[in-house]
Amino acid sequence: MSDEGKDANPLYSYFVNNPGRLIHKWLHYFEPYHRHLGRLRGEAVTLVEFGVFHGGSLQMWKHYLGSRARIVGVDIDPACKTFEEDQVQIWIGDQEDRPFLRRLADGVGSIDIVIEDGGHRMGQQIATFEEIFYRMSESGVYIAEDLHTSYWAEYGGGARRTGTFIEYAKALIDQLNAWHTQNPEQLSVDDFTLQATSMHFYDSMLIIERGERGEPRHTQTGRPSFPT
Ligand SMILES: C[S@@+](CC[C@H](N)C(=O)[O-])C[C@H]1O[C@@H](n2cnc3c(N)ncnc32)[C@H](O)[C@@H]1O
Repeated sequence: MSDEGKDANPLYSYFVNNPGRLIHKWLHYFEPYHRHLGRLRGEAVTLVEFGVFHGGSLQMWKHYLGSRARIVGVDIDPACKTFEEDQVQIWIGDQEDRPFLRRLADGVGSIDIVIEDGGHRMGQQIATFEEIFYRMSESGVYIAEDLHTSYWAEYGGGARRTGTFIEYAKALIDQLNAWHTQNPEQLSVDDFTLQATSMHFYDSMLIIERGERGEPRHTQTGRPSFPT
């Protein structure tokens, strides 16, 4: 991020001057965070962050989104429960436990923002995405972080290795474009095609924006320059 960009980014300003509990974030995340979440500041939104750590990032989101926001932290470590405060609730559970994730989604209700910053293992990232993304609010924003673990053997990663979250996400690119298939046996419209409007890849981060989507249409406007 340029120095100018840093000055204009209230989330980054909070982070570097952090008056609260410990936060651990990669510095290059702050530009995409503000680009994709800035429109939700001051709104009555619900943010769920997987991975509470010392609770500081939950305080940061609360400060950034404002007094109408509800912040929910999820962690496997029961000690994190003590980080609850005004506007901040904590759920204790394993982000790879699908029944837990369904209980979480039912209990929390409409989720507008997900920050997935938990254990960063492939099964955890995939289970959390599959159980939560399709239950988010219609214009939700899903942020999966630290995807560099898809390249790290100790997390189950490896370049172009089957089963990594990055390989899983590459297949979602096909689903985003599935309306244009010429071979429905190879590629067909699914829930992701119908519910995701865009995918934004950054270093170690994928941001998926939701929105109900029908079959795309195109047309022509203006005067022809040549006989048609
Ligand atoms: C990278 S830290 C989170 C950093 C925090 N979001 C921040 O910005 O400061 C990862 C957290 O994920 C939690 N975690 C690890 N495995 C988990 C799992 N299977 N389910 C839920 N949380 C998990 C750890 O207990 C730890 O608190």
